[in-house]
Amino acid sequence: MITYAGTLEIETDRLILRKMDHEDTQSIFDHWLSDERVSDNRVSAAHKSMSETAERVVRIIKGYYKNDFCYWGIELKSTKELIGEIDLYDFDNSTGNCEVSYSLGYRWWNQGYGTEALRAVVDFGFSHMNVHKISAAHNTDNPASGRIMSKVGMQQEGIIRDKIRNSKNQYKDCAVWGILQEDYQKNNL
Ligand SMILES: CC(C)(COP(=O)(O)OP(=O)(O)OC[C@H]1O[C@@H](n2cnc3c(N)ncnc32)[C@H](O)[C@@H]1OP(=O)(O)O)[C@@H](O)C(=O)NCCC(=O)NCCS
Repeated sequence: MITYAGTLEIETDRLILRKMDHEDTQSIFDHWLSDERVSDNRVSAAHKSMSETAERVVRIIKGYYKNDFCYWGIELKSTKELIGEIDLYDFDNSTGNCEVSYSLGYRWWNQGYGTEALRAVVDFGFSHMNVHKISAAHNTDNPASGRIMSKVGMQQEGIIRDKIRNSKNQYKDCAVWGILQEDYQKNNL
């Protein structure tokens, strides 16, 4: 059974994963949600205006009232900048399974932050929430995302053709990945 704990703060070597706040709206817009280099790898389109981001932040903050809502802003300890987001979602109480997704601002790509955040959240899901399995999917033309899944011990389970159609009306094949709690625990003894 999943033990929900809400969005508890998580600290890693270089990052703090924390709840988002209204004051973060500008950074969220500037750093990743308005950037097509980021949104091209996600389902939803880049935000054109701050008001879209503000609405989203309001929804996230409302979510924090529920203890099955796990949505972290990724803060860089050294500069205190909010550089991205990561969340656990689609909790299924009948299986104990859930999904993970994440995005980082382009400026911070390829410096190990994605791997560091994903590793911390996978550990949180298994060690603190007793999740049974964590899954994720990425477009096959976004190999960096698959690479970080692999680095935290997830396994690729297959490729689903034309799984999504993005905001530019392009179909994308998606690679699906997963990691079981028992495998995670075996490998992290
Ligand atoms: C996916 C994402 C979170 C990765 O974060 P990151 O901080 O850049 O990841 P890391 O630096 O920890 O690791 C990136 C890895 O991908 C590799 N990589 C980068 N570009 C690559 C490419 N085109 N092909 C293959 N590998 C690539 C890097 O070499 C690195 O692997 P290594 O450590 O073995 O060298 C970030 O690119 C991002 O936010 N992308 C846009 C949004 C997105 O894709 N979200 C996920 C949707 S499923």
